[in-house]
Amino acid sequence: MKLLAVVMYATFAFCNYSSASADHNVSKKHSRPNVHDTSECWFDGQRLDHFTYTKRDERWRQRYLLHQDYWTRGGPIFFYVGNEANVEVYANYTGFMWESAKDFGALLVFAEHRYYGKSQPFGKDSLGKDPSFLSIEQALADYAALIYHLKEKLKAEGSPVIAFGGSYGGMLAAWLRAKYPNAVQGSIAASAPVRAFASRLNPSFNPSAFWEVVTYDASPAAGAAPACIQNTWTFFQSVMASREDAAWRAMVSDAFGTCRPLQGSAEVEDLAYWVQGAFDSFAMGNYPYPSSYMGGALPAWPMRAACERLASPRLSSYQLLQAMAEVAGLLYNSSGNVGCYNVTSLVGPAGPGATWEFQWCAQRAAQELPYFPATGRSDMFWYQGEYDEKRIQADCRKRFGISGDADWSVISLGGMDFSAASNIVFSNGEYDPWKIGGVREDISRTIIALEIKEGAHHLDLMWAEEDDPHSVRDAREIERQHIRRWLKEAFASLPQSRNAEVENA
Ligand SMILES: *[C@@H]1O[C@H](CO)[C@@H](O)[C@H](O)[C@H]1NC(C)=O
Ligand SMILES: *[C@@H]1O[C@H](CO)[C@@H](O)[C@H](O)[C@H]1NC(C)=O
Ligand SMILES: *[C@@H]1O[C@H](CO)[C@@H](O)[C@H](O)[C@H]1NC(C)=O
Ligand SMILES: *[C@@H]1O[C@H](CO)[C@@H](O)[C@H](O)[C@H]1NC(C)=O
Repeated sequence: MKLLAVVMYATFAFCNYSSASADHNVSKKHSRPNVHDTSECWFDGQRLDHFTYTKRDERWRQRYLLHQDYWTRGGPIFFYVGNEANVEVYANYTGFMWESAKDFGALLVFAEHRYYGKSQPFGKDSLGKDPSFLSIEQALADYAALIYHLKEKLKAEGSPVIAFGGSYGGMLAAWLRAKYPNAVQGSIAASAPVRAFASRLNPSFNPSAFWEVVTYDASPAAGAAPACIQNTWTFFQSVMASREDAAWRAMVSDAFGTCRPLQGSAEVEDLAYWVQGAFDSFAMGNYPYPSSYMGGALPAWPMRAACERLASPRLSSYQLLQAMAEVAGLLYNSSGNVGCYNVTSLVGPAGPGATWEFQWCAQRAAQELPYFPATGRSDMFWYQGEYDEKRIQADCRKRFGISGDADWSVISLGGMDFSAASNIVFSNGEYDPWKIGGVREDISRTIIALEIKEGAHHLDLMWAEEDDPHSVRDAREIERQHIRRWLKEAFASLPQSRNAEVENA
């Protein structure tokens, strides 16, 4: 044991220990660990461009977070494949990894995606300086290279790696296994819309179906008040139909408490999209307990909570506006401190926060608002036209000077087909609108699809809670069973792992 501690100290010397993590001992401090229980580490030698040979030596610093307390030497590495945010968010919320690591004797790694958080190839606002190196393919190559680097640093060549990710991170986890099966022995791809690419090469994808799921979540079948869908539909029809009417705009502005009166029909449309965005968050974040994962501090079952405000079948048009303003407030004013609403267009200027918008523009990596059109017939919103590739390209040229290419995403990312891969669990939540782009049928004995009843966006990756439905407890157990099997196979075949096992014993 003593020797192990010394080895640990030496191998982890490349990480910055914050004062909080210097005495990190999870069991002592609190029951639920978070980013303060990790060490912040850097891969200084990460390649800027994995795919050209003329700039082979340009390097940058990629951030990752480590937690080692559960690790037994030779044991597995649980690797969170960071998505489109500061990686600290995922360290905080991915309870499933923390809660499983102990049993598996796993090292926890949370890796940050290039151009997000502190992983900026060109320093602050790297996107504004040069976005050329932001792509899904570069990010995947980063993760594969980081895994090799880590194993060498930690002398953990025999440790199998299990990738975890939710949403875009789940997509990355699945592709990482498919593209770099040497780096990753299996992946948990939670709520991963790997097939959500609107391209002529992927004709079966219907982006409008997203809003059908959001609408389903507002139905009695999903526990919501019976009048909710009708009231919501009526709200959007009337707001949009009368948007040219100045007196109506004044009434809408007043009911919602906008900072200044809505000017012109375009601003009414902005408000309609903004309200639609709240329903989007209630659907994705339809967790059985209060959660701040979607931004605002949402209550348990937020869609049901929203629909309670829309439960009366007899609302005057002003009452309906007021009720909908309360619904919007559930998300946008959960602090209770917002004095008035500044409603702005969803298609804003390119700026430091626009990294995901760039990824959408470049590769059409899943951006429902305002690009996946609602129909107003199969959903409770309004008719937003057809999916409009030309308009998207025009927006993208205006913002980033690029048109982007969805076809290449289909070609590069496996054509939505995982039949040549192995060892991936795809999970999808019944209430999660992103399931429309997910893998929802078993593809082979080792490419498994799980549907989590009453589950929202990657509920299975979250901390276990008392109010969790049985379905998600079962899903987590099935996922652990798959991980166990992948590890068993890996221990039997990875070159150094048998030695490590012997050392451990
Ligand atoms: C962490 O705390 C537990 C419980 O107080 C204790 O048994 C254990 O020795 C501590 N571990 C370290 C590394 O300090
Ligand atoms: C993560 O959780 C810790 C502890 O609650 C908190 O201090 C920190 O701000 C959180 N970080 C993020 C990015 O959510
Ligand atoms: C936000 O919530 C507070 C507390 O409920 C309320 O007083 C305020 O009017 C709300 N703001 C808006 C813009 O509705
Ligand atoms: C609304 O926008 C104005 C002008 O940009 C700004 O001064 C004000 O602080 C904003 N209010 C809120 C509540 O965000």
